[in-house]
Amino acid sequence: MDLRHAGAIPTTGLSALQGIDDALGLKKGETIIIHGASGGVGTLAVQFARLRGARVFATASGKEGVDLVREMGAHAAVDGKRPDVDDHARRFAPDGVDAILALAGGDGLERCLSVLRPGGRVAHPNGVEPTPKKRRGMTLIRYDGISGVREFERLNAAVQAAKLKVPRPGLQGARAPRRGSRARKDYPFSA
Ligand SMILES: NC(=O)c1ccc[n+]([C@@H]2O[C@H](COP(=O)([O-])OP(=O)(O)OC[C@H]3O[C@@H](n4cnc5c(N)ncnc54)[C@H](OP(=O)(O)O)[C@@H]3O)[C@@H](O)[C@H]2O)c1
Repeated sequence: MDLRHAGAIPTTGLSALQGIDDALGLKKGETIIIHGASGGVGTLAVQFARLRGARVFATASGKEGVDLVREMGAHAAVDGKRPDVDDHARRFAPDGVDAILALAGGDGLERCLSVLRPGGRVAHPNGVEPTPKKRRGMTLIRYDGISGVREFERLNAAVQAAKLKVPRPGLQGARAPRRGSRARKDYPFSA
């Protein structure tokens, strides 16, 4: 990975990794919904969740977003704006999911929350609006990405271990470039 693309990782990467590891403490074999997975934080969070051995159900924005998060490694993906997003998630995890990382708020997120198993965890970085409503039996964790030497060392280790793909520089609402576009030829980037 060259410097230009490596430079796109820190802010979103720290938020993604700390959401998966510190806020949710995601473990091998657990199931997770990453809601809003087609964006800067989500495309990396999908890969870190896979690195930890979780089963990942991703919600994304539009068909391009769904294709993108599948390419990032999600086991299943749907458009998070569908009214039946909860039915899809329930088919993925009939006993309910262990954890949800919320990177977008609103009705779609509330539908996903209905698929959380009793005692499940929900985390979101501050800035997600509207914030999820706390429900009985749900642990809600709000967090901010923290930077520091140790945090960057951990991020670096995870980037290498995951052979991280970065959809495109800047990661603003990351989406796969259209076929035939100039950006497509060097997409995605790998560590
Ligand atoms: N506190 C912190 O330290 C911190 C750090 C980083 C990020 N954040 C917050 O975390 C959130 C995510 O950041 P980001 O950089 O990943 O943002 P982003 O790039 O805009 O990603 C959000 C993604 O969610 C999609 N989305 C919106 N509504 C959806 C729905 N109903 N179902 C499925 N997908 C949906 C968006 O698609 P469209 O673009 O098509 O709407 C976009 O792809 C933001 O609220 C940001 O403020 C906080």
